Amino acid sequence: MSFNPLKEKGISPEKQLRTWHDIAHRHFNKYEVDCYTRTRQILMNGIEVEAWNFKHNFARITNDEETKIFLAMTKRIEDMQQTTINWMAPADQSVLETTLGYEQVAVDLTAWLAQNEPDPYVKETFDFGLLEDFDHLYRYSQWAYMQHGICPNEILQNQTDVILGRPTQNHHNDNTLRLRKHYDKATATPQTKVNILTLVSGEQQTHNYYAEHGMEYGNECIRETYAEIKDVEEEHVTMYESLIDPTESLYEKLLLHEFTEVCTYHNCLEDEDDDLLRPIWEEFLQYELGHLNIAANLFKKHEGRDPEEVIGSEIVYPCRFKSQKPYVEKILRSEIDKRLDENKGYTTIKKLSDDWSSYKVQEAVGKDGSPTEMTVRTIATQKGRDLLRASEELIADAPKLLEKGLEPKAQAPDTISIQEYKEMNKQELDF
Ligand SMILES: [Fe+2]
Ligand SMILES: [Fe+2]
Ligand SMILES: [Fe+2]
Ligand SMILES: [Fe+2]
Repeated sequence: MSFNPLKEKGISPEKQLRTWHDIAHRHFNKYEVDCYTRTRQILMNGIEVEAWNFKHNFARITNDEETKIFLAMTKRIEDMQQTTINWMAPADQSVLETTLGYEQVAVDLTAWLAQNEPDPYVKETFDFGLLEDFDHLYRYSQWAYMQHGICPNEILQNQTDVILGRPTQNHHNDNTLRLRKHYDKATATPQTKVNILTLVSGEQQTHNYYAEHGMEYGNECIRETYAEIKDVEEEHVTMYESLIDPTESLYEKLLLHEFTEVCTYHNCLEDEDDDLLRPIWEEFLQYELGHLNIAANLFKKHEGRDPEEVIGSEIVYPCRFKSQKPYVEKILRSEIDKRLDENKGYTTIKKLSDDWSSYKVQEAVGKDGSPTEMTVRTIATQKGRDLLRASEELIADAPKLLEKGLEPKAQAPDTISIQEYKEMNKQELDF
């Protein structure tokens, strides 16, 4: 059904204030919630954090009274929306359980976006990041088992594989290599713009979650694992945000933020079966249509242009959550050895020169060891091997994947060697 959000009025911001009870009382049951209801909840929290953050930054650098009034009113609404959504996570959902949810978002969202991305360079960048979050899911799954005694499918519900990806110690790049070519605001499609903003919001929130919660475990190696992976999420935010055309005006960016909120809520509403969350998506979609309406008028007034030039005349779908195992496996098998080159492109391990600038970073941060390697070493001392959840064929190929995906140079001192991993992979998978 075609839906032109610029033709909808929504609910006006004056009618969007809610009571503390309404804001805070909902929480789902972690044993009963569908994994993709949880991923929507995690993503939409990130979308609201970005909306709120962007508006504060805009407010600090504008002196236009009408704009300041709109931002002041709606920053508070975005913030209330954020609380409602984030606080749907129940008190008994542990940090590591929530973390598995975050990485499931990253894997299945990025895979969806890559397959629905019209710009091939942006798609390639999504595929590149995909294999890194996929590896994070594998590392954290080991800790969820060792620390809380849970298997990852209690959270992932068999929808997402758990197996090594591009090894995390190889995600540490010279951050300037993460800078990619940006799209051209005049020619990029609304789908590309919304796809990127959706992913930036998700990655930024993942970074923030690890930053705020990684220290809640006393186990030193878990703390360091969070520190290591959080730093990769910082690289991901740098990488994905660099795809955005920096010459878009603030009003254009405001329009795109509200449009992204409209699209993501619309997408969530279409997909949601959960009786607790569905009414929230429905209500907040109406709020965002109200925001979009005003943002579109501000854009027209300040830019003298038609908002349709930027966002088109129909909705796009940036967050259709579903199992992406075959797609992820395809990218895993073909691109695990992919690396960033020094000209904003991509290369493979074999073609890297000895003075590739990320080697220096990997040597510096990995000098005392890589906690994500130690993670696998730790579970191997307890169980003889690592915990995997994937097809038998893929599990059998895990050592080959490691061989292809691990850089021979600049390895951290505690790196699991290919030979050690081959031995480990022969052990029975008894979890
Ligand atoms: Fe919002
Ligand atoms: Fe990640
Ligand atoms: Fe990430
Ligand atoms: Fe909004």
